[in-house]
Amino acid sequence: MTPDSIRGVFIMLDQRILVAYASHTGSTEEAVGTALQEHGARVDVHPVQDVTTLKPYRTVLVGSAIHAAKWLPEAAEFVKRHTTELEQLPLSYFLVCATFREDTAEHHREVLAYLDPVRVLLEPLEIGLFAGRLDASRLPLLERMLVKAMKSGEGDWRDWEAIHDWAGGVWEHLEHGEGEAVA
Ligand SMILES: Cc1cc2nc3c(=O)[nH]c(=O)nc-3n(C[C@H](O)[C@H](O)[C@H](O)COP(=O)(O)O)c2cc1C
Repeated sequence: MTPDSIRGVFIMLDQRILVAYASHTGSTEEAVGTALQEHGARVDVHPVQDVTTLKPYRTVLVGSAIHAAKWLPEAAEFVKRHTTELEQLPLSYFLVCATFREDTAEHHREVLAYLDPVRVLLEPLEIGLFAGRLDASRLPLLERMLVKAMKSGEGDWRDWEAIHDWAGGVWEHLEHGEGEAVA
């Protein structure tokens, strides 16, 4: 083993990653944590409201379902609440939505703009955009009515390979200390 590869093993052992998420029906967010684990990372996956400190973490991924063209409010609140700590860490954002069920250039632009309010707070190193699942039977009455009014209809558009690949890219950048933005 070369000194570099030994250092790499120690960095990997030392890495603890937080996936903090906001979700109403749990379509995708835990899968990001599972994919990171498969890449060898030590990962904690928690709803944003359960996270009180970022001290144990070397990097943080914050993700949310999209409602009304925005992250759920508790996810944006998480970023506001932890801005000072997050400024010191590699930070990634991801979202799960219905619009991205068709990965066109127009949808990419539209969906990326959902993150504008939180990118103003802090700019992440990496961004993941994912299609989710819309299943009205899992939603409370008011949301069920809103979904019926949405043009997308119901469906499960999750692309597990895309999620796995993105998580792998985040892991690669951590491992190799790269920090360019991906959006
Ligand atoms: C009330 C409501 C509003 C939504 N608004 C949007 C939206 O503005 N744009 C979009 O692309 N998807 C929208 N969606 C779809 C969700 O983002 C999608 O179903 C996501 O996978 C849900 O994630 P979750 O299972 O983690 O809650 C909406 C869903 C609901 C229930």
